[in-house]
Amino acid sequence: MTIKDKVVAITGAGRGIGRSTALHLASRGAHMVLGARSEAELSAVAAEIEAAGGKAAYRVTDVTNRSDLESLVVCACDVFGRLDVIVNNAGIGPISRFDALHVEDWDAMIDVNLRGTLYGIAASLPVFAGQGQGHVVNVLSTAGLKIVPTMGVYAATKNALRTATEALRQEAGSKLRVTEVSPGFIDTTFTDSSITDQDVRAAINKQKEQLAISPDAIARAIAFAIEQPADVEVGSIVVRPTAQD
Ligand SMILES: NC(=O)c1ccc[n+]([C@@H]2O[C@H](COP(=O)([O-])OP(=O)(O)OC[C@H]3O[C@@H](n4cnc5c(N)ncnc54)[C@H](OP(=O)(O)O)[C@@H]3O)[C@@H](O)[C@H]2O)c1
Repeated sequence: MTIKDKVVAITGAGRGIGRSTALHLASRGAHMVLGARSEAELSAVAAEIEAAGGKAAYRVTDVTNRSDLESLVVCACDVFGRLDVIVNNAGIGPISRFDALHVEDWDAMIDVNLRGTLYGIAASLPVFAGQGQGHVVNVLSTAGLKIVPTMGVYAATKNALRTATEALRQEAGSKLRVTEVSPGFIDTTFTDSSITDQDVRAAINKQKEQLAISPDAIARAIAFAIEQPADVEVGSIVVRPTAQD
């Protein structure tokens, strides 16, 4: 049971859940390959890892570009010689009611959350096949488990991924592990960086203030899935605040 020396690529690594997961896995000895659009945030996380004695590389990555995910995987192989795990974490949640007709936000969620994760899977599968081992971790959401108003399109992207993740698991055979992690309310910049509808943002932020837990809880869950022996696949983990409905 080990994380030490595993090479882990993670998208959305500049802040929030991705940053916490990168720091936690690096502290357990993983070699981290960080992707997101903000180079300043990526270099800060990489510097934090290295200052603590860990190993990290980063590549500016927009998950809506398939070639950026391919470059992230190439970066892992060039710098650390292989890729053991990809954590498809990057996501956005510009949620709103349907009748607000924020159709561009719907498109963006489909592009980042759904297409971006599929591109991460596409980029990593050939490397995993060549190595004879690998692990795909997809970050979903409890929004897909309890459907509520304003989160319709967001939940739809996460549940489309849930379906794809299960099919990948069934296709994967004995050499590829597949894990989905569904966070509940987590204390990150997610609402402020994503939600364009002011009323919805105020309502969600109020709930967040009352409920949200540290992103470290998700980092520990992802670490749990990775640290299992190669013949043990953790298929699905739900981590939410105890007080969340
Ligand atoms: N926070 C919650 O309550 C919560 C609950 C359930 C699920 N989740 C899921 O958890 C994941 C992480 O969310 P978070 O709370 O950590 O959000 P966050 O604090 O807003 O961080 C999101 C990360 O994703 C990156 N990102 C956004 N768009 C991207 C793109 N097109 N290409 C590459 N990277 C991109 C951001 O960096 P750049 O902007 O620099 O690219 C940032 O590093 C998401 O999939 C989200 O749906 C969050």
